[in-house]
Amino acid sequence: MSIKKGVPLYDQADENGFWGKFGGNYLPEPLLKPADDLHAAFQELRHDKDFLKDLEKLRSEYIGRPTPFFKLENLTKELGGAEIWIKHEAQCHGDSHKLNGAIISCLIAKYRGQTEIIGDTGAGMAGTGLAMAASRLGLKSRVFMGKVDYERQKLNVMRMKTLGCEVVPVTSGSQTLVEAVSETMRYWLANCDTTAICVGSIVGASVFVKLCAFGQHVISREMSSQMINIFGEIPKATLVAAVGGGSSSFGFFCDFIDHDQISMRGVEAGGPENDDKLHAAPLTNDSPIGILHGAKQYVIQSPDGQIQETSSIAAGLDYPGVSPMHCYLKDEGRVTYTSASDEEAVKGFEILAKTEGIQCSIEPAHAIADICRIAPKMGKDEKIIGLVCGTLSKDAPLLAQRLNIEL
Ligand SMILES: Cc1ncc(COP(=O)(O)O)c(C=O)c1O
Repeated sequence: MSIKKGVPLYDQADENGFWGKFGGNYLPEPLLKPADDLHAAFQELRHDKDFLKDLEKLRSEYIGRPTPFFKLENLTKELGGAEIWIKHEAQCHGDSHKLNGAIISCLIAKYRGQTEIIGDTGAGMAGTGLAMAASRLGLKSRVFMGKVDYERQKLNVMRMKTLGCEVVPVTSGSQTLVEAVSETMRYWLANCDTTAICVGSIVGASVFVKLCAFGQHVISREMSSQMINIFGEIPKATLVAAVGGGSSSFGFFCDFIDHDQISMRGVEAGGPENDDKLHAAPLTNDSPIGILHGAKQYVIQSPDGQIQETSSIAAGLDYPGVSPMHCYLKDEGRVTYTSASDEEAVKGFEILAKTEGIQCSIEPAHAIADICRIAPKMGKDEKIIGLVCGTLSKDAPLLAQRLNIEL
């Protein structure tokens, strides 16, 4: 398989849900039919006029699209190399891109007559997006969140609870995103007759990858038009985005995969600098292929195939696996993957705040860290476009502690 032009990558999986060697549907037998039914509903609704009209209305009125695309004059001067631009996806309602994906699963659930929806969250942003979309569309929501994340992202727990969502702390394993996704799948296995599901990133069995990617594709589709308005064309540029499960970066890259003048860099979580074994960067570190949450992918594992714990300052990037579509883009050589350490991300947050008055969350701060490394080595006539997909809102306590600011 090689990348086809003119077809979004999420529509290029084969009939078994594979992008090259990656993906598939490694689900327990009782979930195969519910997953198939969800896929069939998605394929029908994505062409349904009423569904698309409702989606457009939600995107413009509720999410607040289009999000801005503009040049960072001060950061460009400070770094002294390439021009730096951003797509400011953190200006979506809810402070991150996650509502773009959640709105699709919730709207499909509503059209199918379902009244309850469950989902996973790491940093609490996917959970907040799900709780918001569910409330807006009159659905009951329940979100599974690792206990460690529940403690370190308490502000988002409060947000979800005040949206009427039941937040369930998960106490198994590393108590982070990996267990939250496992617990969501387990719950769905027992309740799929009555309950819809929303996976928070483009991970899991192929239907979940496709649904979430379809929702996030709006980022690059919108930015293509914004570029044409500003530059009169799609210019030569390097796109840089953080990669956890990979939904924001994929949505940001999707429309440009066909454009040879666009280079793309995915920035994974390098973890703490003083321990080079601890990270959440399976693509950068050439992790072996394994199966996690229903899909074949590069995944951090022991030599005998046991999924390993990861470490990152960013709860939203702290995941041992990564979307099968990113694995495929790596193998095809279309996207370059690298990582930034916890410490570099904190510096990335600081420089963006001080030069531009933009306070991002710690996840996109990894992309800013990479921009700080590459921009000075590039010419002033070159362009870098970063994706800022989260705000400081959830990370104020964490950054206060890192920056020695008393609260
Ligand atoms: C603000 C923010 N950015 C990025 C991510 C990473 O997820 P993904 O790679 O799916 O965009 C998360 C995940 O929770 C997040 O909250």
